[in-house]
Amino acid sequence: MSIQRTFVMIKPDGVARRLIGECIQRFERRGLKLVAIKMQILTREKAEEHYQEHKGKEFYESLISFITSGPTVQMVWEGEDAINQVRNMIGNTNPLKSEPGTIRGDFALITQMNIVHASDKTESAEREIALYFSTGDILQYKTDDEHWLTSK
Ligand code: CMP
Repeated sequence: MSIQRTFVMIKPDGVARRLIGECIQRFERRGLKLVAIKMQILTREKAEEHYQEHKGKEFYESLISFITSGPTVQMVWEGEDAINQVRNMIGNTNPLKSEPGTIRGDFALITQMNIVHASDKTESAEREIALYFSTGDILQYKTDDEHWLTSK
């Protein structure tokens, strides 16, 4: 078992299109566990910190102004192989490659306005979680199904 935590952010387009519940429901139904959640309009400083690896790319300025344009939702999801499971569930960044059945494949047609962001690897998950949450914000609890699994 590899229980991981991953960071997910619903972007301003996802909030504006009332897709917060849709995204949460998909992750819950898959069996992932929500351990932290908050909502905020990102400052430019926070957005630049989040997307530091994209600084200098031709879409960077547009990405920063888009991501700071309205409310966003930050979440930490926990579960077996959570990082790759969530990445698979949100779909490819390229709209031509995001499969139907994924969040982006079902709801996004434009690369920048792609509803949701999720960490791509362990180091990113750790960095992104720490960017938005302190240790005390992340709940530790067991659900009934987990009690059953760990007792087997
Ligand atoms: P995300 O998974 O949040 O990671 C970086 C974001 O930059 C990406 O989703 C898109 O919103 C945006 N992005 C990536 N590539 C491009 C691109 N070629 N043009 C515009 N935006 C992009």
